[in-house]
Amino acid sequence: MERTLVLIKPDGVKRHLIGNIIERFENKGLKIVSLKLMKVSDDKARQHYSVHSMKPFFEGLVSYLTSGPIVALILEGDNAIISCRNLAGATDGSAAAAGTIRGDFSLNIEENIVHASDSPESFNHEYKIFFNENEIMDY
Ligand code: PPS
Repeated sequence: MERTLVLIKPDGVKRHLIGNIIERFENKGLKIVSLKLMKVSDDKARQHYSVHSMKPFFEGLVSYLTSGPIVALILEGDNAIISCRNLAGATDGSAAAAGTIRGDFSLNIEENIVHASDSPESFNHEYKIFFNENEIMDY
C-alpha cells in the first residue's frame, strides 16, 4: 500500500474540472485519505518546488501555483505513485496521450492541470507542506 500527493492546480479548479479529475482517481481504485481546497502561499509553493529552484521556469511555477485555489489530495492504493503519474499523463499537455488528464485537458507544459508525486521521497517531502498528520484518515 502506497500513498501519493496529487494537486489539482489553479487552472483545473478554474475550469471546473475537480469532479472529473477526482472521478478518474476513484475509478482507478485509489482511496482518498485526505482532501482540501486551499490557497497556496508563496512560501509553500517555493517549498513544494524547491527541487526546481535553479531552473529557469521556477518563478513561473511558483506564480502559477499561487494564482488561485487548488485542491490537494492524498491518495492511497497499491502502486499509487506510478498509477497517478500514468493517469496524469506526460508533463507537457501537447505530448500527453489522449485519455490521460493532461492529454484530455492541457495544451502545454505551463498549465498542465495536475501535479502527482514522482517518488516516495517526493511524497514525503511534499505532503507535509499541505497536510498535518491528523488530517490524514485511516479507514
Ligand atoms: S515531472 O512532472 O516532474 O516529471 O516533470 P519535470 O519536467 O521534472 O517538471 C517538473 C515541474 O515543472 C513543470 N515544468 C515547467 N513549467 C513551466 N515551464 C516549463 N518549461 C516547465 N518544465 C517543467 C512541470 O509542469 C512540473 O510541474 P509539476 O507540478 O511537478 O507536475
